[in-house]
Amino acid sequence: MAVRRLAPKELQPASFAFSAENLAWAKKQMDKFPPGRQQSAVISLLWRAQEQNAGWVSEAAIRYIADMLGMAHIRVMEVATFYTMFQLSPVGKKAHVQVCGTTPCMLRGAGELIDVCKHRIHHDPFHLSADGDFSWEEVECLGACVNAPMAMIWKDVYEDLTPDSLNKVLDGFASGKPVKPGPQIDRQFAAPVGGARVLTGDVSKPADSQGTPKEPVLADGEPKKQTEAANVRERPAPKPPADDATRKDK
Ligand code: FES
Repeated sequence: MAVRRLAPKELQPASFAFSAENLAWAKKQMDKFPPGRQQSAVISLLWRAQEQNAGWVSEAAIRYIADMLGMAHIRVMEVATFYTMFQLSPVGKKAHVQVCGTTPCMLRGAGELIDVCKHRIHHDPFHLSADGDFSWEEVECLGACVNAPMAMIWKDVYEDLTPDSLNKVLDGFASGKPVKPGPQIDRQFAAPVGGARVLTGDVSKPADSQGTPKEPVLADGEPKKQTEAANVRERPAPKPPADDATRKDK
């Protein structure tokens, strides 16, 4: 995990202000919280500032957001330097690649993905490629371990990566035609590789020999049917307490 510091002074722009569109959006975010709790919008505002500022958060942006939310500058600085979703120095114009280097991803080949970044982008993390289009870093678990190894680029995650498929992902960003995010193998979301391994029978038929019909499996996007609340469902009558065999007064 890299030490997270603000970019050196010579890279810091003198000022930052939201565009009119982003300012209106930011005010809407702040209005979502009760009066006096606007600082709860700090992460969403920092993220929008990062998007406006070519993928990184400058010191001026941190101060601007702190002033907007009525927070001490150091408080917003703490948030921006804690989360690896915020970049603190300029990143590649086309893609900043965050390769997960935590144990499950490492065991499944993250080291080879890092080698791709080292050869294709720059030997060291947080350095721009020669054309300024790419940069990379190693980050801690990004929560997609089930499809390890993975990398995050901007808001999207690319999973089940191999050196080849990571190169294809980078080619996509280089050509302006990014590949579809998610698993880069034949896997639906986080389902087993090769398809479902359970509930594979014909669910339109009775489930058991008594002919009890089975509820059909829900299709993607189909809402679950509402059932009766637990307090109105039929309950078995309570049984009287069992006779106490240890009683001596019988
Ligand atoms: S260990 Fe890589 S996403 Fe969790």
